[in-house]
Amino acid sequence: MLAGKRILLIVGGGIAAFKSLDLIRRLRERGATVTPVLTRSAEEFVTPLSTSALAGQKVYRDLFDLTDEAEMGHIELSRAADLVVVAPATADLMGKMAGGLANDLASTLLMATDKRVLIAPAMNVRMWEHPATQRNLATLHGDGILTVGPDVGDMACGEHGPGRMSEPLEIVAAAEAALADGPLKGKHVLVTSGPTHEPIDPVRYIANRSSGAQGTAIARSLAALGADVTFVTGPADVAPPLGVKVVAVQTAREMKEAVDAALPADAAVFAAAVADWRVENASGSKMKKDGSGNAPALSFAENPDILAGVSQMTAGRPKLVVGFAAETDDVEANATAKRARKGCDWIVANDVSPETGIMGGSENAVTIISDAGADVWPRLNKEQVAMKIAAKIAEALA
Ligand code: C5P
Repeated sequence: MLAGKRILLIVGGGIAAFKSLDLIRRLRERGATVTPVLTRSAEEFVTPLSTSALAGQKVYRDLFDLTDEAEMGHIELSRAADLVVVAPATADLMGKMAGGLANDLASTLLMATDKRVLIAPAMNVRMWEHPATQRNLATLHGDGILTVGPDVGDMACGEHGPGRMSEPLEIVAAAEAALADGPLKGKHVLVTSGPTHEPIDPVRYIANRSSGAQGTAIARSLAALGADVTFVTGPADVAPPLGVKVVAVQTAREMKEAVDAALPADAAVFAAAVADWRVENASGSKMKKDGSGNAPALSFAENPDILAGVSQMTAGRPKLVVGFAAETDDVEANATAKRARKGCDWIVANDVSPETGIMGGSENAVTIISDAGADVWPRLNKEQVAMKIAAKIAEALA
């Protein structure tokens, strides 16, 4: 999808700039031409030499470099591209874009371009959450600027939260989506994700260790392929992806209601770790110790099985229903049995034994169980798993 496309890559000044060198490689691997532009502060993080060596092109750095102006004015430079990508997009660059400033080469190109612009924000979590940045983001979205990320994670500054630049492959996927009407254009795909919280009383609940990372990555990848995604999420650790319709829920029963309301869909992916049981005798007020030493007895009721319900719909069933099986032993056999029991088309099975580090971690090793049998995928990061699943869904719906 990127073959023959010309990408103007503006690299802002942030520690994530080093990932932009890998981004250049990834874009070129897919046949794109990359023309790099470094801001002054970007040069503190990556050198013009390494950037131009990887891009196989001259690096543009200065608005007032008359040779560049003679060769190609800034207007032409911004318009010769098919897509402008800003990675990393710093708080400063986003502020300039939102405010319409044009006081260096990067900001001038962004003002002069008539092409789609995709930004990959990267900054400290406090800077990302600052009302000014969030205001600028809203302005940029209103202006039709596309965004990818930021991701949640550990940051170079030692803090944790949203602000990490998306990984190069995610940015590549977003660039592909920006440049093409993806294969899932016009398709509605429903994705459930995250854990559910089942109340014990108004302040306590039963939950599980799902971070929502895999479901979020799948929703993002589906959107990148052009799908119209409804993302029904329990209280997850990771922020929902941009560009999807988010429906936030707490309990399994709320999730079921949200899923029913979101149908019909062409495909449905049930990545949520739904609590199998809810507390039947949940208290309407905070439970208190009574000093007797007796712990309260909780009784449980089974939650509705959302995946089974949708898989077994007689009318209006999505063409493709995908379930997940998180198992700790006999993964393939259990997942195969689960597929038959639930009635879904595919089961994405994984081993969530603590020693695998998969639950709550960044990697996943999955086996896809379908009519065709078991397809064992190598251990990949969750973004890569998501992209492969999204591509397989696109194939199945084609
Ligand atoms: O039965 P089990 O919880 O192992 O099945 C896992 C699969 O079923 C996942 O795809 C999960 O999202 C889905 N599920 C559901 N509703 C439930 C329980 C599980 O949709 N109540």
